[in-house]
Amino acid sequence: MSASTFPADVPDLRGRSFLKELDHTPAEWAALLDLAARLKAEHHSGQPRQRLRGKAVALLFEKTSTRTRAAFELAAAGQGAASTYLDPTGSHLGHKESVEDTGRVLGRLYDGIEYRGAAQATVELLADVAGVPVWNGLTDEWHPTQSLCDALTMREVCGKPLAETSFAFLGDGRSNVAASLLAMAALVGADARVVAPPALQPPAAVLDAASAVAATTGARLTVTDDVAAGVAGVDAVHTDVWVSLGEPESAWAERVPLLVPYRVDAGVLAATGNPDVRFLHCLPAFHDLGTSLARAVHERYELAEMEVSDEVFRGPASRVLDQAENRRWTIEAVLVATLAGLDA
Ligand code: CP
Repeated sequence: MSASTFPADVPDLRGRSFLKELDHTPAEWAALLDLAARLKAEHHSGQPRQRLRGKAVALLFEKTSTRTRAAFELAAAGQGAASTYLDPTGSHLGHKESVEDTGRVLGRLYDGIEYRGAAQATVELLADVAGVPVWNGLTDEWHPTQSLCDALTMREVCGKPLAETSFAFLGDGRSNVAASLLAMAALVGADARVVAPPALQPPAAVLDAASAVAATTGARLTVTDDVAAGVAGVDAVHTDVWVSLGEPESAWAERVPLLVPYRVDAGVLAATGNPDVRFLHCLPAFHDLGTSLARAVHERYELAEMEVSDEVFRGPASRVLDQAENRRWTIEAVLVATLAGLDA
């Protein structure tokens, strides 16, 4: 379909990058969510269509991943596109070849590029030079494919429109996940609370940018250090790991004492006052001693659980596996929307 024949009532995301939530309008975000739901239903109906046949995407990871990588590969394959995974040591990026040169080369070879790494500036530079859509698979600042997934998951598991949904994020409010949840809430008009100790609350720039959009959508954004007030009445409680990949060892010593009171446990879910509250986590989670990192932290800090108790993680409120599955459908929607169009 040429640009001139694109339906006027459907946002046109063809050729656009997906770098952070607030680059998009509420209408674009809603259309991506609707497309993700449609692709998921199509797949489960057993009659999927392939909208990206003949296309190829590069998946450039400077940090490791399970869900994001798997979702991009499956999304591309499901839509008939080829993909090439370039792992944290498997390309010249940053060592023998600059971001700019890598972006220009991959842009000549591929129809789109996914990038995961530390700096938001890197994914923005790739988008500037590649000449094809670039998708942010996580940077230290934003995790937009995750928040798109979180929005779809809340739409499914909270049983109400997102504009009527309330949720709390407990943990490091300065993190990419907290920032992306605030931005997403602003776009969909939700009631979002970041519940974090005073030293770990979202940067003013993030809150100001999200609040400007919230003023146009009716979203309510709150930052508090009071767990009981922050979770009162919410439909969903989110959390994330306290220290991310690539952060220094010293971060544990700083954050563990600050964040133990913000662990999501049965008491936190009870404090919501909502018997149907849902628990969400982008994963991976430290809820037991099943990983070498969790055991190392346990040895040093005597913590058998970190951001979420094992009871909550495995309990009836938990929807983390629905959420993990939705990485595929939301990433597939981003690929289809930017490479073929929202109504392809
Ligand atoms: N949630 C998330 O981004 O998971 P991965 O790190 O496994 O991709």
